[in-house]
Parts: sequence; structure tokens; C-alpha cells
Amino acid sequence: MNEIQQEIRRLAKLKKAIIMAHYYQRAEIQDVADFIGDSLALAQQAAKTDADIIVMCGVHFMAETAKILCPDKKVLIPDATAGCSLADSCKAEDLAVWKAMHPDYTVVSYVNTSAAVKALTDVVVTSSNAMKIVGKLPADAKILFGPDHNLGNYINSETGRHMELWNGACHVHSRFSVEALLALKNEHPNAPVLAHPECKQVILDLSDVIGSTQALLNYVKTHSNHSEYIIATESGVIHEMQKACPDVHFLPVPPEMTEGVGCHCNECEYMRQNTLELLLKCLQTESPEVTVDSDVSEKALVSIEKMLAWS
Ligand code: 13P
Ligand code: SF4
Repeated sequence: MNEIQQEIRRLAKLKKAIIMAHYYQRAEIQDVADFIGDSLALAQQAAKTDADIIVMCGVHFMAETAKILCPDKKVLIPDATAGCSLADSCKAEDLAVWKAMHPDYTVVSYVNTSAAVKALTDVVVTSSNAMKIVGKLPADAKILFGPDHNLGNYINSETGRHMELWNGACHVHSRFSVEALLALKNEHPNAPVLAHPECKQVILDLSDVIGSTQALLNYVKTHSNHSEYIIATESGVIHEMQKACPDVHFLPVPPEMTEGVGCHCNECEYMRQNTLELLLKCLQTESPEVTVDSDVSEKALVSIEKMLAWS
């Protein structure tokens, strides 16, 4: 650990703070965290922590979810402007209009949404539990699903449901280059392709394993017979994959603009806004603090708790 990391650990212990990090965080932040997880695991961990302070190294909606689950705790995020293109694609006022047009529908929202959107939602899902939770709804339930169109489309095709889909997308997962993936498959015919369901259908059609960040990680950890994998998700997860399987070669699919030269990664710039320096400052100053309006929080808690109970 470098000096900054040591100071972060010292302050976290002193202040009884838990540092939580998503797998898409910078490697040096993952290495200093108490807990690393995907969206579901972070929410589950926040719900049960006895720490006084939660430092969420992730994007804003993740910190909001932790605050909703722990309204009496101080929830901090190193960079409060770390947003999410997918969450931004669905404003609460627009969802309210869509809901009003479909009065007898159940609203299922991906966790990548604002607290205000969650407050208008019947049940929240993450990529880890979306299939299971949609499966628990009556077969004839009419469902509005948002905001991720790719994930919704994937659930519809796997379950035979006909959910109405919001037209949102994650700019990271929807920009993988099909040509680059085909070229990687050609060069590495024995490497299974692992993809996140936020990817476009054409990428999923070319993949061998489709799953949430945690599911893809679990797959790599439990299948020791492969020496290389092609990864179609945010490349931050490769840090944990490489730690678990040091001899395995992980090949990230590049984004469309890269065309196989230069940077071969596909990083979420919002996730990377959090740096070690900002994390240290955040612990020193106990800010920026994430707060949620109490009325919104109470309503959003219902749809988040339903998700946790059904997971
Ligand atoms: P999961 O953590 O649920 O796999 O979602 C991926 C993601 O894009 C988080 O912002
Ligand atoms: Fe949002 Fe996509 Fe970044 Fe996840 S990877 S935080 S969905 S923009």
C-alpha cells in the first residue's frame, strides 16, 4: 500500500467508516476498500453494515441507494458529480408521464436510476436479480421496464415476457465494437466471450456467457479450464478477475471508436472520477455527503426493500 492508501485505511478505522467499491472503480481504490461488489452486493452490504459512515466509491445512484437503506448513517462519495448516463436517460417527470399512460402496469426499474425514479417504482432490480424478480411477477402482469433497453430486451427474450421498454442505455456497454469482437473471436477461438446484459443484442448473440458483473466474475473463478477470456463489460472488473486467476489472459473488447488501436479498454469515466486523492479528502472532511429528500426516500425504500426480499 502506498502512503495515501495507508492514510485512507487509518482514517477509515478511526472514523468507523466502511469503504465500499464497485468493481468498475480504479484498481487502487478497489485495493483499499473494505468491500468490493456489484450493484446488488453493494446494496446488500449497505443494508447490513454497522459502520458509522459509508463511503461509496461508485456513482451517485449507488450512494443514494445506500443512504435510502441507512437514513441515519452518514453516506459519502469521493466525487458527488460521478453520475451515470443510464440513470440520466430516465427523468422522474418523464417516467411519471409514461406511468400515467399505463395505469394498470407494474413498474420495474433497474437500480441505475435516481431516488426519485425509484420512488415511482414498484420493484427495483439489478442485473444480478432482474430475471428472478421479473419471474416472480404473475405471468400475465403488464410490466413497464426501464431504463435499460438492452437489459429489458434480454429479459423479454429469455422469459418470453412482453415488457414495455424504456429507451435508455449505458454508453459504455452499448459501444462495444462488433467488428473488434469478431476479430478477437477469430484470433482466440478457444476464449469464451463473457458479456454484461447491458450490451447490445448483437454483442450478446456473439457471447458464450451473459451475466451481471458478479456472475461473470464467479464464472471465471469457477472455470479453471480456460486460459483466456474475451470480456465485453467495463474493464475495471478485470482487476479482480486477474487477482483471482493470475495465469489467465483477459482480452477486453474495445469500444467502436477505438477500432483495435490505441486504448483497448472500455472504461466508465463516471466511475473513474473517484480517485485515491478524492477518497482521502472525503474521509478527512467527511464530505461530500449524499442526502435524499425524506419523502422520496421513504417511497424509494419500499421498492428497494422489495428487491432485497425477492433476491
Ligand atoms: P452491475 O453492478 O449490477 O453488474 O451493473 C453494472 C453497471 O453498469 C453498474 O453501473
Ligand atoms: Fe452508468 Fe454505464 Fe457507468 Fe454503469 S458503466 S455507471 S451503467 S454509465
